[in-house]
Amino acid sequence: MVIKLETVLVEIEGPVATISLDRPEKKNAMNPQMHADMNTALDEIEAAGGVKVVVVTGNGDSFSAGMDLEECFLRPYEDPMLFYRTNLVALRWFKRLKAFPAVTVAKVNGFAFGGGVLVTGICDLAVASEGVLFGLSEINFGIFPAGGASWAAANNLPRKQALYYILTGDTFTGAQAQEFGLVNRAVPAEELDAETDRIVAKLVRKNPVTLELAKQVYEHNRATDLPAAIDYDQAKLWELSRLTGNEWINVALKQFEKRSFQPGLSTYRR
Ligand code: ACO
Repeated sequence: MVIKLETVLVEIEGPVATISLDRPEKKNAMNPQMHADMNTALDEIEAAGGVKVVVVTGNGDSFSAGMDLEECFLRPYEDPMLFYRTNLVALRWFKRLKAFPAVTVAKVNGFAFGGGVLVTGICDLAVASEGVLFGLSEINFGIFPAGGASWAAANNLPRKQALYYILTGDTFTGAQAQEFGLVNRAVPAEELDAETDRIVAKLVRKNPVTLELAKQVYEHNRATDLPAAIDYDQAKLWELSRLTGNEWINVALKQFEKRSFQPGLSTYRR
């Protein structure tokens, strides 16, 4: 299924949805229309049901040049309510993408500035071309990374690197982004699609409920202490068992009992 919105293209093929930011002439800068389209895209993907993995990428030579500096900031600025509402639409889909039930994968094909770093950072996984340029360029026009961009830097880069790029506005490459941990892998541009597909293929073989709960458990564990984490994990394990009809016991571990797979090296057959 292909859904063509004004600034975003959504392709849903079975368990995989691909969202392509589609304003290549503006380097996929996110204008108010794109923010509205991204909310619609996430609605459509949820409504389709059965999507396990969402890949976010950009059409053309840019992933995203961040917020549209004219349409989101400069023009609405004089009217506080317009400014507030314009940016609220953006913040809504950033928060939604971060908490999205399916696994989200940023495929960073080109420039990623400001909001582009943010989207890379809030996705669960990310793959980039080695040579792409990332930048927290906000300082270059007089502000600090906001709207989740500082959060993305703080939660994906080591502290000194985050502060260096926040404070200088210098760019860093896809290869450096891998070193810092902002992306899982940086590969030559011609391997970007294949590398992303390889990761996606692993994910679609897993139980989607388990993927969804694994994300929730990870995020909760990051934010809490060990006793609270253990209690939460135990409760979630019962929830998982119930929601999946005990698939891990009845299918996965039965296969292990027959020695038909080694969980350390492969996944069970669903
Ligand atoms: N907002 C609005 N328009 C933009 C943006 C943006 N963030 N980024 C690019 N564009 C526009 C350019 O102004 C240009 O428009 P025009 O054709 O009407 O002149 C068009 O997209 C193409 O951009 P060029 O600058 O010509 O492309 P080039 O390949 O030379 O440079 C680059 C690309 C480096 C990304 C440059 O466009 C740039 O610095 N953009 C701004 C990046 C940025 O700092 N974004 C803000 C991040 S902070 C945040 O998201 C809150």
